[in-house]
Amino acid sequence: MRYVQLTKAEPGMILAYDIFDSHGRTLAGHNVILTEGYIERLKSYGFDGVYIQDELSEDIEVESAIPSALRTEGIACIKNNNIDGCKNIAKKIVDEILSKDQLSLDMTDLRSYDDYTYAHSVNVAVLSCVIGTGMKLNEEEMEYLVTAAVLHDFGKLTIPQEILNKPSRLTQEEFQIMQSHAMRSYEMICDRTDLSAYVKSAVLCHHENVDGSGYPLGIEGSEQTLFTKILHVADVYDALIAKRPYKEPYSPYEATEYLMGGCGIMFDQAVVTTLLNYVPLYPKGTEVVLSDGRRAVIYENAGIYNLRPILKLYDHTMLDLTAPENLNLTIRDAREQENLEEQEQERKQMIKPLRRYRIMAIDDMKPNLLLLQDILKDYYDVILLRSGTQAIHYMEKYSPPDLIIMDIDMPDMDGLETAKRIQEMTNQRVPILFVTVLCDKVTVTRCRELNAAGYILRPYKPAYIKTEIKRILENWMDV
Ligand SMILES: [Fe+2]
Repeated sequence: MRYVQLTKAEPGMILAYDIFDSHGRTLAGHNVILTEGYIERLKSYGFDGVYIQDELSEDIEVESAIPSALRTEGIACIKNNNIDGCKNIAKKIVDEILSKDQLSLDMTDLRSYDDYTYAHSVNVAVLSCVIGTGMKLNEEEMEYLVTAAVLHDFGKLTIPQEILNKPSRLTQEEFQIMQSHAMRSYEMICDRTDLSAYVKSAVLCHHENVDGSGYPLGIEGSEQTLFTKILHVADVYDALIAKRPYKEPYSPYEATEYLMGGCGIMFDQAVVTTLLNYVPLYPKGTEVVLSDGRRAVIYENAGIYNLRPILKLYDHTMLDLTAPENLNLTIRDAREQENLEEQEQERKQMIKPLRRYRIMAIDDMKPNLLLLQDILKDYYDVILLRSGTQAIHYMEKYSPPDLIIMDIDMPDMDGLETAKRIQEMTNQRVPILFVTVLCDKVTVTRCRELNAAGYILRPYKPAYIKTEIKRILENWMDV
């Protein structure tokens, strides 16, 4: 069998694997012959593709990580808000994964838009379980982890569908409602005495990043449990490879590249490395295009990190990319190459780019600058300057920073005067956060008049200034 995107499916193709709707009813069974009507219907449900059987792929077997019946049962329990059922499903998933000699994550999950939250939770449970196995968790720990994974998005059941599936960009208010799902999930389980504190904290913290930039608590990696870190990686990986109303799916190759790029910022390095040991970059049965233009299906992968699989070409010949004569060939993604620019925009909306912001700190007191540098250097590129004049010179020569933190009380040109000059130079595009020891009415009014992004009083706590910077950058970049 092989995976075919619905945009490339043709009438007459034969299904190799059942397709279910969000109630677990069979929409199209294996052996069904696709018609134009079927294809259109499946597209309207939001499926990305189907598995088909044909002569070319008759000797390719793709196995699901867990049986479809267990997947359907899991989806039903989550949908019905059945916490006891979810605990039971978590146990079954752990048993299923532990009983396998060889684990395969080759199969692309066939899911519709309706299904997303429930199918996603089951997938995250399977992925978390696989990572947990790789990280040598014991059975009890695996059950905590997988239970948390099944329950992690429970709070989304209370969020209106129009927000959950909104095809366009969320407003600030909608975004906050969306982000509240982690707390909502936690609140739905926090009174259950039969659930471990590990389960509850992993559910609450599954959107926390290791650099402390996540939500809802903004805690860093050292304060997070391993369960939280695993759940976070599994959650993002599955969200990336899913088709959503507002974005096309990432290929496993692209999704793993994304995770690797986010190590140390969003994700824990050891967790990502473990996931990479199990996720096939080119899953069996997927179509690829070679650099010389020939089309092929992935026939077999020789091991982990596999970039050189064995392929079956459309003329049925086999091609081993590890063979010396084939070393000049590379694989290109065979997915639709149309509307690339549009798709890229949609993807950018899903997750903000991981870039380091540049922060300029201006203060005439060197110890203050060094303190700021100490607090911020792990998260931002920090430019330290001793006076307003230096700042103006810098801005004349280089591109403006993403944010300026400025002392108000400086000799010669004070902070407010410097801010005014910088705002004229940048068309008010750079947010300015003032630091002051004074909180008198005149100073506050002048800050307001300058449309300052904020002002903080000295002495401040490092955590406070970090939160303030995060808030300003998020709001400013969203405008
Ligand atoms: Fe979530």
